[in-house]
Amino acid sequence: MVEYAPIIIGSLVVLFFAVPSLSSKDSKSSSNNARRSAVALFLPGLILTFSASVVMCSWEDAYQRGYQIFSLPSVRSAAESYIETGDGDITDILESGKYAPTFGYYEVSYLIKDLLRHTIFHTNSHNADNIDEGYNKGNDWFASMLGDTMMYTSGLYPTGSETLEEAQNYKIDYVADAIQVKPGMSVLDIGCGWTYVAKRLTEKYGANVTGITLSKEQLKWGTEWNANNDATILLQDAMQIHERDDLPKQFDRITSLEMAEHVGIRRYQEFLSKVRNLLKDDGVFYFQVAGLRRHWRFEDLVWGLFMGEHVFPGADASCPLGWVSDQLEKAGFEIQRVHNMGSHYSRTLAHWLDNWRSNEEKIIAKYGDKAYRRWEVFLAWSVRVARQGSSTLFMFTLTKADVMDERRIESQAHLVPKDINA
Ligand SMILES: *[C@@H]1O[C@H](CO)[C@@H](O)[C@H](O)[C@H]1NC(C)=O
Repeated sequence: MVEYAPIIIGSLVVLFFAVPSLSSKDSKSSSNNARRSAVALFLPGLILTFSASVVMCSWEDAYQRGYQIFSLPSVRSAAESYIETGDGDITDILESGKYAPTFGYYEVSYLIKDLLRHTIFHTNSHNADNIDEGYNKGNDWFASMLGDTMMYTSGLYPTGSETLEEAQNYKIDYVADAIQVKPGMSVLDIGCGWTYVAKRLTEKYGANVTGITLSKEQLKWGTEWNANNDATILLQDAMQIHERDDLPKQFDRITSLEMAEHVGIRRYQEFLSKVRNLLKDDGVFYFQVAGLRRHWRFEDLVWGLFMGEHVFPGADASCPLGWVSDQLEKAGFEIQRVHNMGSHYSRTLAHWLDNWRSNEEKIIAKYGDKAYRRWEVFLAWSVRVARQGSSTLFMFTLTKADVMDERRIESQAHLVPKDINA
């Protein structure tokens, strides 16, 4: 993309200085005008330069990779038009490899809006607002996709033929094993969703779980769901949890499944440091987070921008493994194990898509057909993206760095690769 930048910057510079001096007779005021225009136009010029470079590069890349860039719209335009009208075959649009992942109107206007929002209008209430938009759609909306477990995170499919519910149960059992949870241990689940992790760790493993969420809908659901067990569900921001007197200052175990994406890159380190403070020195932290591939293609960005606009507004911290690991190590964690399970996310999303489609009539009756199709596109597109690795899933098992030797020895004994001779 940088190769086009000099031409565009050059043209802009010529324009900045040529236009005002042509339109004015007085040479002194014209040079002032020129300077003023240059200053005033600098930022828009930079944005324009950047956008134009990205657009051109994406077109060149798509052309070289054999997409039908002249006869068909871009994949995003085709998907948007499917959402608007219901015309077209969404599977063909997303899976055929004919519709190009080129940048255009949707991407550029979103990037500019997003830039202005972050630089000019950024507020502290941003996070809570995003949660309302992303998660407070009504529990029935999510139940139509997630099924009985209401887990909005990837399952694990050890044989590949599990049902969604089996895959979600297996995943939580894996988490229980990773953190070596024992009866009576205090567990904090940060971003507890509809609380199935808290429920299963409490009921099957006898842990004393506190689940925290920022969503009122999840709080309501989780409180009812856990009415007959000892799990505690709270409406609480993880950043302020240390201020509560009714909770332990530190927990034996902490879990956080696909919540950190919402923390934001700027506060990531602060978030992880808080988690570290909340964990006992001999504790274990299980951290599951969606990620991206570093060796990216334009299709990754085009999908990411669709997600940013329609699905997870404000979630901007899906990053490659190196970045996440770096943040974790800087915050004082030692990585004991990490899995990349993106293809299992693809299976999970395919199950969500099946559920969603089987509830089509009900969803359309309540939320309208565009909302139905927008979510259908999100799920169908994400099935592909997670399958090919544009987006993936990291599962970390972590302990505190620079503390007890016993804990290191115990964790590593527990995690030693097994069954190599089986
Ligand atoms: C469980 O944890 C809560 C705090 O989250 C605490 O008030 C309660 O006493 C604990 N229960 C047991 C049985 O340890």
